[in-house]
Amino acid sequence: MEYQLDKNQIPEHIAVIMDGNGRWAKAKGLPRSAGHAEGGTNLRRIAEVCSKLGVKYLTAYTFSTENWNRPIEEVDAIMKLVVERMDVDDLMRNNVRLRMIGDMERLPESVQQAFGKCMSATEHNEGGLTLVIAMSYSSRWELTRAMRRTAQLAAEGKLKPEDVNEDYINSQLETNFMPDPDLLIRTGGEQRISNYLLWQCAYSEFYFCDTYWPDFSSEDLYRAIAVYQQRQRRFGLTGEQVECKNE
Ligand code: FPP
Repeated sequence: MEYQLDKNQIPEHIAVIMDGNGRWAKAKGLPRSAGHAEGGTNLRRIAEVCSKLGVKYLTAYTFSTENWNRPIEEVDAIMKLVVERMDVDDLMRNNVRLRMIGDMERLPESVQQAFGKCMSATEHNEGGLTLVIAMSYSSRWELTRAMRRTAQLAAEGKLKPEDVNEDYINSQLETNFMPDPDLLIRTGGEQRISNYLLWQCAYSEFYFCDTYWPDFSSEDLYRAIAVYQQRQRRFGLTGEQVECKNE
């Protein structure tokens, strides 16, 4: 089926929860790591489609702070995969800027180095897609850290209560370089947010589908965007107010 997308209403920022890699692998009699490897390949594919559609930011939940509690072999396999797949030439060829959000210091040295290399090589890429990899990330970790820093500044007399507003809070988050997600997609059948971009998704549109992440195709992405384009984003206004504004 063809989806007629309105080119003027492409979401600027899409966030994805890439769920279902393990079940995809199990269904094929493969180890879970094979599911993550295929998931990584699919992220590359979906990033390319996003780029072509004119999406400016794609934020992929790759490893949460809770994922550290998975079996060590699985954690190691994901870390190894991320290092293997960080490809500066590929990013440069496609004018993609790479960013990472999360607790970088907790990641193995090899992962830190791979991110460091790709982020500095691509930081001046402009006009294309910014691919944001969330690793060792969770919203509660991010908010706790922001609050601790804020308490420290207040204790040092460098911050007054009236300085704390939404702009200030945004500035303290990992995501301070990009707009909030317009569309959050979760694959794999679960309908929850799993500690991902809690503050940032205040007004995001959510799209859930049963497809396992490795099978989430460009066609599935078009469908998600088509559904998004049919929604009326009201941001607390009435439908009539929104229609008036759009006239
Ligand atoms: C969730 O599926 C997926 C993850 C925890 C890992 C996601 C990692 C990748 C897609 C690799 C990304 C690679 C690069 C290069 C950034 P799950 O394991 O919870 O699946 P399940 O619910 O079916 O068990």
